[in-house]
Amino acid sequence: MTVHDIHFSARGTTASYARAVCTAIGLPTISSNWLRREERREADISHDDLLVFSMPVYGGFIPALCRDSAVLLLGHDTPAIIVAVYGNRHYDDALVQMRTLLEERGFTVVAGAAFVARHSIFPSVAADRPDDDDLDEARSFAKRALESIGRTGRLALPGREDHDSLVFKGSSFHPCGDDRCIRCMACAGICPTGAVDRADPRMSDTSACISCGACIDVCPVSSRGYHDEAYRAAETTFAAKCSGRRKNEIFLL
Ligand SMILES: Cc1cc2nc3c(=O)[nH]c(=O)nc-3n(C[C@H](O)[C@H](O)[C@H](O)COP(=O)(O)O)c2cc1C
Repeated sequence: MTVHDIHFSARGTTASYARAVCTAIGLPTISSNWLRREERREADISHDDLLVFSMPVYGGFIPALCRDSAVLLLGHDTPAIIVAVYGNRHYDDALVQMRTLLEERGFTVVAGAAFVARHSIFPSVAADRPDDDDLDEARSFAKRALESIGRTGRLALPGREDHDSLVFKGSSFHPCGDDRCIRCMACAGICPTGAVDRADPRMSDTSACISCGACIDVCPVSSRGYHDEAYRAAETTFAAKCSGRRKNEIFLL
């Protein structure tokens, strides 16, 4: 059995959970991060293999780019484990959405988890997560999920079946560069939607930007970030609302 680890991770937390799950499974693994355009490619995954599909939660769903990329996957009643990684607010309909997308593509979802991580827009929220306890939980989830392969039935998950994932219109905050920008174009290279202006990389097309934050982490001079006043006020309010430690949740067939 080969494990196909397909995730989207802009700021690393979803990748950390995907790595913990796949390492605990301990089988040969092929990993793709859909952040990178060249890693968003067709994957025809045999019945005898396993898909581990790990996505961050954006507005209660998976990122629209990932929803639309699900057509690249083809299963043959292939078992799948789904992992939704969220920033300590809620994962809402993301797990149900992932199950539906994968069922439509020929997969059987045998286990799901919602794991908490640092919020990628407001990084003071759940700042130190995933921590060692979280990653232990991810590893133990992986072992239990393996035991679910071959069981029959439909995995029960919280969330609405009749959700409309098109309702999330994106964040109102978008990273940009300031006068420290050295025009190295690293931000333009990493941006999954090509939103960074190549003529003036301090600017982004806010209608294309998905606020994933990959450009912030790749900037070698810390030029990119959320520089406006409204953002600072929103972070304070959001951090106050989401200050309690939320628990990880797992669901098994
Ligand atoms: C546009 C956007 C919307 C988000 N919406 C939610 C949300 O609805 N609920 C939540 O708890 N976290 C939300 N988050 C936080 C991410 O789910 C979380 O930080 C995740 O760990 C990011 O993964 P990464 O580090 O792999 O990029 C959002 C982040 C972004 C960028």
